[in-house]
Amino acid sequence: MADTDDATGGTRFHPAVPARSYPFRLKGCGSLDWGMQSRLARIFRPATGRTVMLAIDHGYFQGPTTGLERVDLSIIPLLQHADALMTTRGMVRSTVPPAAGVPIVLRASGGPSVLKELSDEQLAVSMEDAARINASAVAVQVFIGGEFETQSVHNMTRLVDAGQRYGIPVLAVTAVGKELTRDARYLRLATRICAELGAHFVKTYFCTDGFDTVTAGCPVPLVLAGGKKLPELDALTMAYQAIEGGAAGVDMGRNIFQSDYPEAMIRAVGAVVHESMKPQEAYEEFVRPHTQQADGAS
Ligand code: 5RP
Repeated sequence: MADTDDATGGTRFHPAVPARSYPFRLKGCGSLDWGMQSRLARIFRPATGRTVMLAIDHGYFQGPTTGLERVDLSIIPLLQHADALMTTRGMVRSTVPPAAGVPIVLRASGGPSVLKELSDEQLAVSMEDAARINASAVAVQVFIGGEFETQSVHNMTRLVDAGQRYGIPVLAVTAVGKELTRDARYLRLATRICAELGAHFVKTYFCTDGFDTVTAGCPVPLVLAGGKKLPELDALTMAYQAIEGGAAGVDMGRNIFQSDYPEAMIRAVGAVVHESMKPQEAYEEFVRPHTQQADGAS
């Protein structure tokens, strides 16, 4: 017979204490399903509400990008410093150790290579496969103002529909063609369209004037796109200004893995994002380990 004696005879009901609930406090995500909030809480550190995503998905349209020739050698040692890894399912299955425990933001759009019209993308991963990989989110490129604008927006809305079914959030990546100006007016337009049409968070570029109006006008978290490699102090300054302007973190690739010291750089970015460290101080942290090494060697 089952041992049910006293199964409900406890007294610890605390009737005077109101029930507590713990919603994940991230911009715009209060009404999302539990699975969505739980996955977002893997990407955005609950303690700071911010994230340092390491973007290494470049190979999906441009092949073995400088710094990513050997992901097993250059990137895997950095994972311990990343809050999430943005990558492709091919790289996940071939190279990312399942036991690394790093949340995956899975590139889910693709098609054209750098040799063709980049905005002509299709969805390239099913939500079922994203779930099989245990993705914490999926990412899709959206080309506002691009030749295949509507198609790319449609890719995103279909991905959002599928994500809603599985509880997997969608990151919309606002891709800006060479002919477009990355100013606040454009970025407000692109990010707002993505959020209105269901993206759970949005990746976008920085602009020096009015970035805070871009974040304010977007009802879901914005993460800063790194863009082409800059001197480290400039990249840290951009990250700092973006965070000050309301970004919920960064999704940075080349500015980390193309640095001569990628590990020092991702740590410095982490200090800016999670500790609001000033760029100059973070830069000093960045240079300290290799200057000490050089001093030791001389
Ligand atoms: C293009 C992308 C990327 O492929 C990548 O994530 C870019 O990262 P970064 O510009 O920081 O090197 O999203 O839009």
